[in-house]
Amino acid sequence: MAKLIYSAIASLDGYIEDEDGNFDWAAPDEEVHAFINDLERPVGTYLYGRRMYETMVGWETDPTLAEHSPLMRDFAEIWRAADKIVYSSTLETVSTASTRIERDFDPESVRQIKAQSGRDITVSGPDLAAHAWRAGLVDECQLFVAPIVVGGGKRSLPNDVRVRLELLEERRFEGGMLYLHYHTRA
Ligand SMILES: NC(=O)c1ccc[n+]([C@@H]2O[C@H](COP(=O)([O-])OP(=O)(O)OC[C@H]3O[C@@H](n4cnc5c(N)ncnc54)[C@H](OP(=O)(O)O)[C@@H]3O)[C@@H](O)[C@H]2O)c1
Repeated sequence: MAKLIYSAIASLDGYIEDEDGNFDWAAPDEEVHAFINDLERPVGTYLYGRRMYETMVGWETDPTLAEHSPLMRDFAEIWRAADKIVYSSTLETVSTASTRIERDFDPESVRQIKAQSGRDITVSGPDLAAHAWRAGLVDECQLFVAPIVVGGGKRSLPNDVRVRLELLEERRFEGGMLYLHYHTRA
């Protein structure tokens, strides 16, 4: 059975974007980018909230992104190769391949995707991921903590969920980011 993994880059005080909607402070440096590429490489399907999809879509629609560096080219190729499911009540069409829209987050259908998929699945965009947390569908959490306190914004984790975690792995990067990898306990 495939694992469902929540992944995010957050500030030390737990926000994925600040009150102005900025998250430039979360941009991975080369060392973190290379690490993220290797984390994403085996993932078969991305579950996205509409806002996160709109942030990521450029990896396929904007060829100049991949031209920045070999690491970014690698990431663009990894991203294009994965299947995507975008959750949205408003999006009418998608502009990327291997992408479908779901109008509702149905926990049972996500359970079936997990059961049938040979490769792991990630869920991102905290609004969408909150549904997966509440339904007990998240198996692992891959959290990057950026060395900054932003004081407010969009929380990376829902505030109405309580889950015990087991720390599987941690890593410190030269630029000050910290990677924390947790398994959720039953
Ligand atoms: N820290 C970082 O490294 C980083 C990286 C990338 C992006 N970001 C930020 O993160 C933001 C995305 O996170 P987010 O939590 O704001 O948004 P999100 O979860 O990606 O998207 C929210 C949208 O998803 C749809 N959705 C959520 N739950 C749904 C459900 N149960 N059924 C159907 N549709 C559902 C809705 O779309 P509709 O409104 O269309 O119905 C909702 O408005 C980006 O906008 C960006 O600012 C941060």
